[in-house]
Amino acid sequence: MIQEGCSFVGTSFVSFSDMKAFQVLLVLLLTAAAADAQSFHLGSCPQPPVQEDFNITKYMGTWYEIEKLPAMFERGKCNQATYSPLADGTVSVRNAELLPNRKINSIEGVAIVKNSSQPAILGVSFFKGVPDAPYWVLSTDYQSYALVYSCSDYFGLFHVDFAWILARTRVLTEDLISQLHDKLAAAGVNVNRLTVSNQTGCDVMY
Ligand SMILES: *[C@@H]1O[C@H](CO)[C@@H](O)[C@H](O)[C@H]1NC(C)=O
Ligand SMILES: *[C@@H]1O[C@H](CO)[C@@H](O)[C@H](O)[C@H]1NC(C)=O
Ligand SMILES: *[C@@H]1O[C@H](CO)[C@@H](O)[C@H](O)[C@H]1NC(C)=O
Repeated sequence: MIQEGCSFVGTSFVSFSDMKAFQVLLVLLLTAAAADAQSFHLGSCPQPPVQEDFNITKYMGTWYEIEKLPAMFERGKCNQATYSPLADGTVSVRNAELLPNRKINSIEGVAIVKNSSQPAILGVSFFKGVPDAPYWVLSTDYQSYALVYSCSDYFGLFHVDFAWILARTRVLTEDLISQLHDKLAAAGVNVNRLTVSNQTGCDVMY
């Protein structure tokens, strides 16, 4: 971004391409800040440890959202995600929620393990041509809980993160929630930012 002979600091001359790059950066910064001020942080993403020996086959099926770091794109309640294996080795993702008008809103995407030696690190994409979002399974016992973290770096200058506490049922014990909070805190996430998801009155969901 900073080219020979000109820089943002210390000289009065800034080239047109620098200005363009700077404007793009500003727009990205403002967009990220506006999208979720609470999930926007300076510096690059933390690199928390992920679930050891992650077995994606055992992870398939439906998970219910218990708590999350604020996510703008979720307007409803009863949020859930269903994962199913696809023939090509990738995973189909169906996220569903119940809107205030009692309609079910769902979106389908694809998850892939990019590096087979890091099976707990996936990328999820809901729109063709849009870069996939990171999906790190930090911890799961496959049968009751899962802790998922997603963090995107922007130029190493700032990062935006999301996290989800998921469960196989619409409720999770306080004990497990507290253990998962500890894991998130160890990853550098401020657990006070988590919001509790509403999983009551979800009988119309499937
Ligand atoms: C993953 O889990 C499936 C289902 O339980 C099992 O059949 C398979 O052997 C496991 N894979 C590994 C590598 O342990
Ligand atoms: C896959 O992960 C391993 C272990 O972390 C790493 O050594 C290797 O470079 C990665 N491969 C690619 C293609 O990123
Ligand atoms: C959750 O949803 C139910 C049913 O729609 C509603 O009665 C309740 O107030 C909601 N709870 C919270 C904490 O928003």
